[in-house]
This record gives sequence, structure tokens and C-alpha cells, in this order.
Amino acid sequence: MNIQMPLIILFLFLLFSTATLGNSRTLSSDRAKDYNNWVSWNVEKYRKETELMEADQMMAKAKGSRSTSANNKEIDARLRKAELNKMSVSVSQDRSGDFATITDALNSIPSHNTRRVTLIIRPGVYREKVLIPRSLPFVTFLGDASEPPTITGNDTASLPGKDGMPLRTFESATVAVEADYFVAVSVKFENTAPHRVGNHGEQAVAIRISGSKAAFYNCSFYGAQDTLYDHKGLHYFNNCFIQGSVDFIFGYGRSLYEKCQLNSTAKKVASLTAQKRTNASMASGFSFKDSVVAGTGQVYLGRAWGDYSRVVLSYTFMDNIVLPQGWSDWGDQTRHLKVYYGEYKCSGPGANLSLRVPWSRALTDEEAKPFIGTYFIEGDTWLISPY
Ligand SMILES: *[C@@H]1O[C@H](CO)[C@@H](O)[C@H](O)[C@H]1NC(C)=O
Ligand SMILES: *[C@@H]1O[C@H](CO)[C@@H](O)[C@H](O)[C@H]1NC(C)=O
Ligand SMILES: *[C@@H]1O[C@H](CO)[C@@H](O)[C@H](O)[C@H]1NC(C)=O
Ligand SMILES: *[C@@H]1O[C@H](CO)[C@@H](O)[C@H](O)[C@H]1NC(C)=O
Ligand SMILES: *[C@@H]1O[C@H](CO)[C@@H](O)[C@H](O)[C@H]1NC(C)=O
Repeated sequence: MNIQMPLIILFLFLLFSTATLGNSRTLSSDRAKDYNNWVSWNVEKYRKETELMEADQMMAKAKGSRSTSANNKEIDARLRKAELNKMSVSVSQDRSGDFATITDALNSIPSHNTRRVTLIIRPGVYREKVLIPRSLPFVTFLGDASEPPTITGNDTASLPGKDGMPLRTFESATVAVEADYFVAVSVKFENTAPHRVGNHGEQAVAIRISGSKAAFYNCSFYGAQDTLYDHKGLHYFNNCFIQGSVDFIFGYGRSLYEKCQLNSTAKKVASLTAQKRTNASMASGFSFKDSVVAGTGQVYLGRAWGDYSRVVLSYTFMDNIVLPQGWSDWGDQTRHLKVYYGEYKCSGPGANLSLRVPWSRALTDEEAKPFIGTYFIEGDTWLISPY
């Protein structure tokens, strides 16, 4: 239709001009105006359709080759089936529920689970190191909206593990989600280990999300260095609060953060994100939309952990803690041509673009488009109501 449109216009134009050739001088000015309006409406419509098509192609390209549509359809069927058969169990520390710990509740779910299992977690502070293994998909943590449960820990990267070797950042997480289709609503994830500037091995992750198609609503994430390990996969965050000091959102997930608050507790200079897209064909990046950046210290919006690090902020309020230059290459200038750091329609004293590093981008409408909807994370194939 897009290809035919100019031909149709041309055909109608010829028809019209032939029909009116004989008395073109008597063509009333009204009719001429109508005709011109009609042509320009069509041209405009055609232009819009072409733009949309190009945006679609761009998104298809961004999706990469791994996720074929056949693949998606299969996964959708699994999800639909899991939602049709959902069940719930309760977790309560006063033993009034089905289980007293989150770990016990998870252990009750059969391996290679095929149905949605909602853990209704009653208020309380759960000092547990929680692992949701790959074999437990479709788990939901549902907290109490007025008094969200806290899952807390204080492991750090340098702490010796069971084998006597340091845990490293990866194993420091209080909660590790390795399964797909995880959902959390009204839960507080926490790692209380402090961060002292200049010390090493203090990475202390509150949550690591290594599974794909995970969604978080009304959750909070508290930590210092490396709070939210957005490791890999497609992730969605809505109305969440995320606090930390250094690189507190990091990894190579492809994630959309909507209506989230990023609260820096940095004392000196730090970075909000360390996005690790390492090559140009990786469909990975963090997009923050309708969010707020505030807190203390002086922060870069991102520093390039990977050569092709990709972060976009749109419609986001930035307080004056954001450094005027905005972005850091982490000491490697070859990254200037490779990273993708963009801002679009942000506001507040930290959003002034005039002193930004020249290799960051003030995005046009077209450039921003792929990042500012749930399609950025292929949401239409898996993002469903959490209840
Ligand atoms: C971590 O928490 C445990 C239990 O509350 C406590 O004994 C330990 O001292 C804490 N470690 C650090 C480094 O804060
Ligand atoms: C999150 O909280 C808001 C109120 O702040 C509420 O309207 C909304 O329903 C909650 N979302 C979920 C998924 O519970
Ligand atoms: C944000 O962090 C600051 C410390 O940097 C703290 O004082 C403030 O209470 C935090 N904001 C919220 C909303 O918790
Ligand atoms: C890009 O990175 C991904 C993930 O590490 C890897 O699987 C892929 O092979 C890489 N592609 C190229 C062209 O290096
Ligand atoms: C942005 O920063 C520049 C340079 O510091 C300054 O001249 C300009 O007034 C600022 N713009 C706004 C809207 O604050």
C-alpha cells in the first residue's frame, strides 16, 4: 500500500487534470483548495506511514536475530497455560501461613513448574538468601502494598563463600532470579552492606535478575555499591524505587524503567548505571522513562562498562546532582564512537544538555521512539497484568 500510494495519487491527479483541462480557468478557487488539501493530506498520510514502517524495521533490527516470532509464539503459549492454572501459597513469619520462609515456599514448587505460583508474602523482615533457579519459572512474589515485606542480606563480593573463595559480585545478591517469567509486586529487596569510598570488594547486590521476561511493580531496591544487577534478559520496572551509591543499576539486560525513582546516596562522584552492552549486535540497553533522578553526590547518568553501552533517559526529571558532562567513557576514548547515550525531553536542573560530552545524544522524536514504549522489551508477547 505504501508503494502504491504515490501511484494512486499520480493516477488521480492525471484523471482530475484531464477532466478539468478544458475548463481549468473556470475551476473555482474553492475546488482548487479542496484538491490541494486532499493531495497534501495524502502526502502527509503517506509520510506518516513510511515513518512508522521505518520505526518498525528499526525495532525489528534492535530485537536481533535470536528472537524469531515463532520462538515468541511458543513462549506465549507456555505463559498463557501457566496463567490459566495459577495457584498461590502464603508465607508468614508468625507461622499463620503455609510457610515461614520464602525459601521453604520455593522448595515446595515442583521443578520445571508449568503454572503460575504466587507467594503471598506477609509483612516482615526476611533475612534469607533467596535463589529462584532456572527450573522454577512463573513465580510471583506478592507483598502487602501498605507494608511491603523486606528481603534482606549483607553479603559482599569479597566475603568468603562456602568454598573459602570470595563470593564475587554475582554471588553477593540477596535475591537471585535465574528463572524466566518472574513477577514481584510490593516487595523491598535489600543489601545492607555499606560502601566506603576507596575500599575494594564491597559490591553488594540486592537483586540479580538473570532470567528473562521479569516484571517488578511498586518494588524498592536498597543497596550501596551495585544494588540492582540487571544481568540479562527482558525486564520491566514500574513505579519502583532504586537506591545506591556506585553503578547501582548494572548489567546487560534489555530493560524499561517506567515511573521509577533513582536515589543516589553517593558522597562523591559516582555513576547511576554501568550498562554492559559489549558488541553492536547485542539487543541490550536500559531505558528510563517518566522517572526521577535525585539524592546526593555528583553522578554520571552512566559509565561505559561495555564498549557499546546503551542507556536512554526520556521524560525524566533530573535534580542538580547530575554532572554537566552527563556520561563517562570509563577511561577509554575508543568508546566515544560506539556507546549510545541518549536523552529525550528530560527536565530539571540536571537535564541541561549544553555541557554534555559531545559523544552523547539529544535524541530526535524518531531516534527516541524505539526506547519509549514497552515494545522496547517486546512487552506485547509477555507483559501481562500482575494479578
Ligand atoms: C551481616 O549481618 C550479620 C547478621 O545480622 C552480622 O552478624 C554481620 O556482622 C553483618 N556483616 C557486616 C559486614 O555488616
Ligand atoms: C502500585 O501502587 C499504586 C499506588 O501507588 C497502585 O495504584 C497500583 O495499583 C499498584 N500496582 C500494582 C501492580 O499493585
Ligand atoms: C535518598 O537518599 C538520601 C541520601 O542520599 C536520603 O537522605 C533520602 O532520604 C533518600 N530519599 C528517599 C525518598 O528515601
Ligand atoms: C555479541 O555478544 C553476544 C553476547 O556476549 C555474543 O553471543 C555474540 O556472539 C557477540 N557477537 C559478536 C558479533 O561478537
Ligand atoms: C544550561 O547551561 C548553560 C551553561 O552552563 C547555561 O548558559 C544555560 O543558561 C543553561 N540553560 C538552562 C535552561 O538552565
